[in-house]
Amino acid sequence: RKRIAILISGRGSNMGAIIAACMDPNFPGEVKAVLSNRPDAKGLETARRYDIAAHAVDQKDFASREAHERAVLDVLGAVEPDVICLAGYMRLLTPDFVRRFEGRMINIHPSLLPLFPGLDTHARAIAAGMRVHGCTVHYVTERMDEGPIIAQAAIAIEPGDTAETLADRLLRAEHRLYPHALKMMLTGDVRMVNGQAAYRRRAPLVPDD
Ligand code: GAR
Repeated sequence: RKRIAILISGRGSNMGAIIAACMDPNFPGEVKAVLSNRPDAKGLETARRYDIAAHAVDQKDFASREAHERAVLDVLGAVEPDVICLAGYMRLLTPDFVRRFEGRMINIHPSLLPLFPGLDTHARAIAAGMRVHGCTVHYVTERMDEGPIIAQAAIAIEPGDTAETLADRLLRAEHRLYPHALKMMLTGDVRMVNGQAAYRRRAPLVPDD
Protein backbone atom coordinates (compact mmCIF):
# COMPACT_ATOMS: atom_id res chain seq x y z
CA ARG A 1 0.00 0.00 0.00
CA LYS A 2 1.18 3.48 -0.86
CA ARG A 3 2.20 5.83 1.92
CA ILE A 4 0.02 8.91 2.40
CA ALA A 5 0.76 12.08 4.36
CA ILE A 6 -2.05 14.57 4.93
CA LEU A 7 -1.53 18.29 5.53
CA ILE A 8 -4.28 20.11 7.40
CA SER A 9 -4.89 23.44 9.12
CA GLY A 10 -8.14 22.91 10.96
CA ARG A 11 -11.13 20.64 11.43
CA GLY A 12 -9.75 17.83 9.31
CA SER A 13 -13.02 16.32 8.18
CA ASN A 14 -11.64 15.52 4.72
CA MET A 15 -8.64 14.00 6.45
CA GLY A 16 -11.09 11.89 8.44
CA ALA A 17 -12.78 10.73 5.24
CA ILE A 18 -9.41 9.67 3.82
CA ILE A 19 -8.45 7.86 7.02
CA ALA A 20 -11.82 6.08 7.01
CA ALA A 21 -11.35 4.99 3.39
CA CYS A 22 -7.89 3.64 4.24
CA MET A 23 -9.37 1.42 6.98
CA ASP A 24 -10.48 -0.82 4.14
CA PRO A 25 -7.51 -3.15 3.63
CA ASN A 26 -8.28 -3.14 -0.10
CA PHE A 27 -7.76 0.61 -0.34
CA PRO A 28 -4.43 1.11 -2.14
CA GLY A 29 -2.93 3.47 0.43
CA GLU A 30 -2.53 4.06 4.14
CA VAL A 31 -2.18 7.27 6.10
CA LYS A 32 1.26 7.37 7.70
CA ALA A 33 1.20 10.90 9.10
CA VAL A 34 -0.87 14.03 9.51
CA LEU A 35 0.78 17.40 9.76
CA SER A 36 -0.70 20.77 10.63
CA ASN A 37 0.75 24.26 10.35
CA ARG A 38 -1.47 25.20 13.30
CA PRO A 39 -1.04 23.44 16.64
CA ASP A 40 -4.70 23.95 17.58
CA ALA A 41 -6.05 22.13 14.51
CA LYS A 42 -8.88 19.85 15.63
CA GLY A 43 -7.86 17.31 13.03
CA LEU A 44 -4.67 16.53 14.94
CA GLU A 45 -6.72 15.08 17.79
CA THR A 46 -8.84 13.10 15.36
CA ALA A 47 -5.73 11.62 13.73
CA ARG A 48 -4.32 10.63 17.12
CA ARG A 49 -7.57 8.89 18.00
CA TYR A 50 -6.91 6.72 14.95
CA ASP A 51 -3.35 6.10 16.15
CA ILE A 52 -1.86 8.05 13.30
CA ALA A 53 1.25 10.12 13.93
CA ALA A 54 0.08 13.73 14.09
CA HIS A 55 2.63 16.55 13.92
CA ALA A 56 2.15 20.23 14.58
CA VAL A 57 4.70 22.40 12.83
CA ASP A 58 3.55 25.79 14.08
CA GLN A 59 4.14 28.43 11.45
CA LYS A 60 4.46 31.02 14.21
CA ASP A 61 7.69 29.38 15.31
CA PHE A 62 9.40 30.26 12.05
CA ALA A 63 10.57 33.56 10.65
CA SER A 64 9.75 32.81 7.04
CA ARG A 65 7.63 30.61 4.84
CA GLU A 66 10.80 28.89 3.66
CA ALA A 67 11.98 28.13 7.17
CA HIS A 68 8.58 26.69 8.07
CA GLU A 69 8.59 24.53 4.96
CA ARG A 70 12.04 23.22 5.78
CA ALA A 71 10.64 21.98 9.10
CA VAL A 72 7.64 20.46 7.30
CA LEU A 73 10.04 18.75 4.90
CA ASP A 74 12.03 17.37 7.82
CA VAL A 75 8.90 15.66 9.12
CA LEU A 76 7.92 14.45 5.66
CA GLY A 77 11.44 13.21 5.06
CA ALA A 78 11.04 10.75 7.90
CA VAL A 79 7.57 9.71 6.73
CA GLU A 80 8.66 9.13 3.12
CA PRO A 81 5.19 9.56 1.67
CA ASP A 82 4.37 8.46 -1.86
CA VAL A 83 1.51 10.91 -1.93
CA ILE A 84 0.65 14.12 -0.10
CA CYS A 85 -2.97 15.16 0.35
CA LEU A 86 -3.75 18.75 1.21
CA ALA A 87 -7.00 18.73 3.14
CA GLY A 88 -7.91 22.22 4.22
CA TYR A 89 -4.23 23.20 4.38
CA MET A 90 -4.61 26.95 4.32
CA ARG A 91 -1.02 27.99 3.79
CA LEU A 92 0.49 28.77 0.42
CA LEU A 93 3.33 26.47 -0.55
CA THR A 94 6.45 27.77 -2.27
CA PRO A 95 7.15 26.72 -5.86
CA ASP A 96 10.15 24.83 -4.54
CA PHE A 97 8.03 22.71 -2.23
CA VAL A 98 5.43 22.12 -4.92
CA ARG A 99 8.01 21.05 -7.49
CA ARG A 100 9.46 18.54 -5.09
CA PHE A 101 6.16 16.67 -5.03
CA GLU A 102 4.99 17.34 -8.54
CA GLY A 103 2.42 14.79 -9.65
CA ARG A 104 2.33 13.36 -6.13
CA MET A 105 0.49 16.11 -4.24
CA ILE A 106 -3.24 16.73 -4.54
CA ASN A 107 -5.70 19.17 -2.99
CA ILE A 108 -9.43 19.51 -2.50
CA HIS A 109 -11.04 22.85 -3.17
CA PRO A 110 -14.65 23.73 -2.41
CA SER A 111 -15.70 24.98 -5.85
CA LEU A 112 -15.98 23.80 -9.40
CA LEU A 113 -12.58 25.05 -10.49
CA PRO A 114 -11.59 27.09 -12.39
CA LEU A 115 -14.55 28.99 -10.93
CA PHE A 116 -14.00 30.55 -7.52
CA PRO A 117 -10.41 29.90 -6.56
CA GLY A 118 -9.50 31.34 -3.15
CA LEU A 119 -11.70 31.86 -0.12
CA ASP A 120 -15.45 32.22 0.55
CA THR A 121 -16.34 30.01 -2.38
CA HIS A 122 -19.85 29.19 -1.15
CA ALA A 123 -20.91 32.81 -0.63
CA ARG A 124 -19.39 33.77 -3.97
CA ALA A 125 -21.22 30.99 -5.82
CA ILE A 126 -24.52 32.14 -4.30
CA ALA A 127 -23.79 35.82 -5.00
CA ALA A 128 -23.01 34.96 -8.62
CA GLY A 129 -26.46 33.40 -8.98
CA MET A 130 -25.05 29.95 -9.66
CA ARG A 131 -27.50 27.05 -9.66
CA VAL A 132 -24.78 24.46 -9.13
CA HIS A 133 -21.77 24.36 -6.88
CA GLY A 134 -19.20 21.69 -6.29
CA CYS A 135 -15.77 20.56 -5.27
CA THR A 136 -12.61 19.70 -7.13
CA VAL A 137 -9.67 17.43 -6.42
CA HIS A 138 -6.66 18.53 -8.42
CA TYR A 139 -2.92 18.13 -8.65
CA VAL A 140 -1.10 20.91 -6.86
CA THR A 141 0.95 23.15 -9.08
CA GLU A 142 2.72 26.41 -8.37
CA ARG A 143 -0.37 28.56 -8.73
CA MET A 144 -2.92 28.37 -5.96
CA ASP A 145 -6.12 26.46 -6.72
CA GLU A 146 -4.94 25.61 -10.20
CA GLY A 147 -3.49 22.42 -11.50
CA PRO A 148 -4.85 19.51 -13.50
CA ILE A 149 -8.28 18.41 -12.34
CA ILE A 150 -8.60 14.80 -11.22
CA ALA A 151 -12.27 14.66 -10.25
CA GLN A 152 -15.19 16.92 -9.47
CA ALA A 153 -18.58 16.56 -7.82
CA ALA A 154 -21.48 18.95 -8.32
CA ILE A 155 -24.46 19.73 -6.11
CA ALA A 156 -27.50 21.95 -6.66
CA ILE A 157 -27.79 25.34 -5.01
CA GLU A 158 -31.28 25.42 -3.48
CA PRO A 159 -33.42 28.49 -2.93
CA GLY A 160 -32.75 29.75 0.57
CA ASP A 161 -29.27 28.28 0.74
CA THR A 162 -26.83 30.29 2.79
CA ALA A 163 -23.07 29.98 2.61
CA GLU A 164 -23.33 27.75 5.68
CA THR A 165 -26.03 25.36 4.46
CA LEU A 166 -24.30 25.10 1.11
CA ALA A 167 -20.91 24.46 2.72
CA ASP A 168 -22.41 21.72 4.91
CA ARG A 169 -23.99 19.97 1.96
CA LEU A 170 -20.91 20.31 -0.18
CA LEU A 171 -18.73 18.93 2.58
CA ARG A 172 -20.56 15.62 2.35
CA ALA A 173 -19.77 15.50 -1.36
CA GLU A 174 -16.14 16.37 -0.59
CA HIS A 175 -15.92 13.43 1.77
CA ARG A 176 -16.95 11.06 -0.99
CA LEU A 177 -14.95 12.72 -3.73
CA TYR A 178 -11.59 12.95 -2.03
CA PRO A 179 -11.05 9.23 -1.27
CA HIS A 180 -12.37 8.42 -4.73
CA ALA A 181 -9.93 10.77 -6.47
CA LEU A 182 -7.08 9.64 -4.23
CA LYS A 183 -7.75 6.03 -5.12
CA MET A 184 -7.64 6.87 -8.83
CA MET A 185 -4.27 8.46 -8.32
CA LEU A 186 -2.87 5.67 -6.17
CA THR A 187 -3.87 2.99 -8.64
CA GLY A 188 -2.51 4.92 -11.62
CA ASP A 189 -5.99 5.39 -13.12
CA VAL A 190 -4.95 9.02 -13.34
CA ARG A 191 -1.44 10.41 -13.63
CA MET A 192 0.00 13.82 -14.27
CA VAL A 193 1.68 13.86 -17.67
CA ASN A 194 3.12 17.04 -19.19
CA GLY A 195 1.09 19.16 -16.80
CA GLN A 196 -2.18 17.44 -17.62
CA ALA A 197 -4.28 14.75 -16.02
CA ALA A 198 -3.99 11.57 -18.09
CA TYR A 199 -6.65 8.94 -17.44
CA ARG A 200 -6.57 5.22 -17.82
CA ARG A 201 -10.15 5.21 -16.63
CA ARG A 202 -12.29 8.32 -16.41
CA ALA A 203 -13.66 9.34 -13.03
CA PRO A 204 -17.41 8.93 -12.84
CA LEU A 205 -19.25 11.90 -11.43
CA VAL A 206 -19.78 11.48 -7.73
CA PRO A 207 -23.33 12.71 -7.21
CA ASP A 208 -24.83 14.14 -4.09
CA ASP A 209 -27.39 12.02 -2.23
C1 GAR B 1 -12.89 22.00 2.97
O1 GAR B 1 -14.15 22.48 2.59
C2 GAR B 1 -11.89 22.17 1.84
O2 GAR B 1 -12.47 21.96 0.57
C3 GAR B 1 -11.47 23.59 2.01
O3 GAR B 1 -11.37 23.78 3.40
C4 GAR B 1 -12.27 22.90 4.05
C5 GAR B 1 -11.51 22.09 5.06
O4 GAR B 1 -12.38 21.35 5.88
N1 GAR B 1 -10.25 23.87 1.34
C6 GAR B 1 -9.93 25.04 0.79
O5 GAR B 1 -10.65 26.02 0.85
C7 GAR B 1 -8.58 25.08 0.08
N2 GAR B 1 -8.45 26.26 -0.70
P1 GAR B 1 -11.84 20.10 6.69
O6 GAR B 1 -10.64 20.60 7.50
O7 GAR B 1 -12.97 19.70 7.58
O8 GAR B 1 -11.45 19.04 5.71
